[in-house]
Amino acid sequence: MRSLLALLALLAPLALGAVTITRTSQPPTGYEVTITYQNASASNVTISSLPHLTDQYSTSVWAWSEFDLNEYKPGDFPSNPQAGTYYSMSQTSPGNFTWTRPFPGGTYQYSFLLNCANASLCNTTTGQEITDPTNPPFEVVSGSELVSTFQVPFDPEFQHYPDLPLNQDYALPYGNAASKGSISIGLYHSPGSISPSPDIHDYVIYLPPGYNTSNITAYPLLYLSHGGNGASADWQNQGYISNLMDRLIGTGALEPTVVVMPTWYGILPNTTNPQALEQRNYPDPQTIASLYSTYLFPHISTHYRVSNSSSRRAFAGLSQGSFVTYTFYTNYTSYFGYFGFLSGGPATNDENEAPPLTGYVNASMLAQNPDLGTRGLFLSYGQYDILFQDAKRFQEALDDLGIRYVSRFVPFGFHFWNTWQDAIWHLGRAALWKPLPFSGATGHGL
Ligand SMILES: *[C@@H]1O[C@H](CO)[C@@H](O)[C@H](O)[C@H]1NC(C)=O
Ligand SMILES: *[C@@H]1O[C@H](CO)[C@@H](O)[C@H](O)[C@H]1NC(C)=O
Ligand SMILES: *[C@@H]1O[C@H](CO)[C@@H](O)[C@H](O)[C@H]1NC(C)=O
Ligand SMILES: *[C@@H]1O[C@H](CO)[C@@H](O)[C@H](O)[C@H]1NC(C)=O
Ligand SMILES: *[C@@H]1O[C@H](CO)[C@@H](O)[C@H](O)[C@H]1NC(C)=O
Ligand SMILES: *[C@@H]1O[C@H](CO)[C@@H](O)[C@H](O)[C@H]1NC(C)=O
Ligand SMILES: *[C@@H]1O[C@H](CO)[C@@H](O)[C@H](O)[C@H]1NC(C)=O
Ligand SMILES: *[C@@H]1O[C@H](CO)[C@@H](O)[C@H](O)[C@H]1NC(C)=O
Ligand SMILES: *[C@@H]1O[C@H](CO)[C@@H](O)[C@H](O)[C@H]1NC(C)=O
Ligand SMILES: *[C@@H]1O[C@H](CO)[C@@H](O)[C@H](O)[C@H]1NC(C)=O
Ligand SMILES: *[C@@H]1O[C@H](CO)[C@@H](O)[C@H](O)[C@H]1NC(C)=O
Repeated sequence: MRSLLALLALLAPLALGAVTITRTSQPPTGYEVTITYQNASASNVTISSLPHLTDQYSTSVWAWSEFDLNEYKPGDFPSNPQAGTYYSMSQTSPGNFTWTRPFPGGTYQYSFLLNCANASLCNTTTGQEITDPTNPPFEVVSGSELVSTFQVPFDPEFQHYPDLPLNQDYALPYGNAASKGSISIGLYHSPGSISPSPDIHDYVIYLPPGYNTSNITAYPLLYLSHGGNGASADWQNQGYISNLMDRLIGTGALEPTVVVMPTWYGILPNTTNPQALEQRNYPDPQTIASLYSTYLFPHISTHYRVSNSSSRRAFAGLSQGSFVTYTFYTNYTSYFGYFGFLSGGPATNDENEAPPLTGYVNASMLAQNPDLGTRGLFLSYGQYDILFQDAKRFQEALDDLGIRYVSRFVPFGFHFWNTWQDAIWHLGRAALWKPLPFSGATGHGL
């Protein structure tokens, strides 16, 4: 067995690579990123998912500039990275590929397209898209995370721009070993689950530094959902949630908090579309909420030293995870004290629908369920967010009812991870575990 493995290792094609982030202290950004990849059987390699840049003068929700990273000017920020941006790597010797650009600060995702004639036709299904083997994603099921990630620091000398808060260093690693919480994968029984194995489902959990089951005090608990086409590992792999939490806790902005990141990826078989494990299942939010509350929540409260008090419990989610959050807010209102809507609300209105608004919380819902008005609500969205309208209308519906919330409008924000990292930073600083009900001064000065 041992020699067979050794033989396989020898036969496996050599594939190495790396992301090198260099502080140049030179224009245009002060930092340079080099990505290398080695694979003797690749004839050409394209980097996918890394963005071009845009600026506030040429950007809307549906349109943006596409400046090459070489053209960076202060005030630029990543344009919609899901729009299909590709960079060809240079082949320096057979099988050796490299690519270098100046980069502004922030978190970036990327993948490699191998031997690809037309980038928009190459993907994991065709076997031509891979993550970086030397910078592998954090994931539960191999192949379920489609991108590798890196973060570039902010350089105030070259990137400072008074109109926009573009420093995203809050997602960089924080402190020493003692300041770091742990991130791990947990499993629980959830009937019908098809991933990672029959009737067994997964979550990712962040335990704060010093987590100690003997402590008398139970930790407050945040459930944090991924979005459409997502999975439990997304917040760690693409959003560096453990770095954000370490920093929020280490700087004293947030008390030590346990974060559970559940997933509806593979939580049920898809009878209408048997291929749906690959395409990511899409149970409706009511089904997701019901499965989580029946199987996941009891598992978490019995396996971790977390509070059973609703005032110490929150549910938040991004994009489609925000629709799930809305379901918990309206149908499981009193189980949680706090709700975080990151880029979205119930998503029931199309952009062109004329007032009056329907599909959002209204006076009769509030009369039947007064707790809707007593929760700690946090709403955030980006200026260039595809769910801008939905999030704004949800705010207007709350305004009409006189329900207070803390909001965070992200001025450089697309419907993407930089926006959601910013949202978590503000959720932790301005909303979580703050006295309820929120007052007009909640979050003031942060
Ligand atoms: C090397 O490239 C080939 C395509 O030519 C691909 O099938 C293989 O997965 C790559 N190997 C690694 C380890 O990236
Ligand atoms: C890539 O370059 C390195 C030296 O930088 C060399 O050792 C290696 O053999 C090259 N790989 C291939 C596949 O040519
Ligand atoms: C990359 O490789 C594919 C497959 O060999 C080929 O069809 C395509 O033309 C190549 N593209 C470039 C830019 O060389
Ligand atoms: C690449 O594929 C897309 C989608 O099929 C197509 O629209 C586009 O014309 C193709 N590009 C080239 C250069 O063939
Ligand atoms: C992958 O690309 C092929 C075309 O090359 C397309 O038919 C297929 O739908 C794509 N799959 C996914 C999951 O995007
Ligand atoms: C739990 O105990 C550890 C170690 O004694 C300590 O660092 C941590 O702050 C405590 N946490 C709470 C919530 O009391
Ligand atoms: C956990 O907390 C208890 C009670 O505060 C303390 O006695 C114990 O040393 C702590 N354990 C660790 C590993 O910090
Ligand atoms: C099954 O797949 C279809 C088509 O992809 C999708 O519309 C539906 O929501 C999925 N159902 C479940 C339960 O995931
Ligand atoms: C919360 O409730 C569960 C289930 O009843 C129980 O096992 C756990 O000890 C409780 N946790 C605390 C901190 O009281
Ligand atoms: C609340 O639950 C009811 C039935 O239990 C369902 O009809 C309704 O759609 C749910 N509301 C939301 C916002 O999911
Ligand atoms: C309030 O919302 C509920 C649930 O969506 C809906 O059934 C009801 O018609 C709405 N009431 C008004 C006055 O819009």
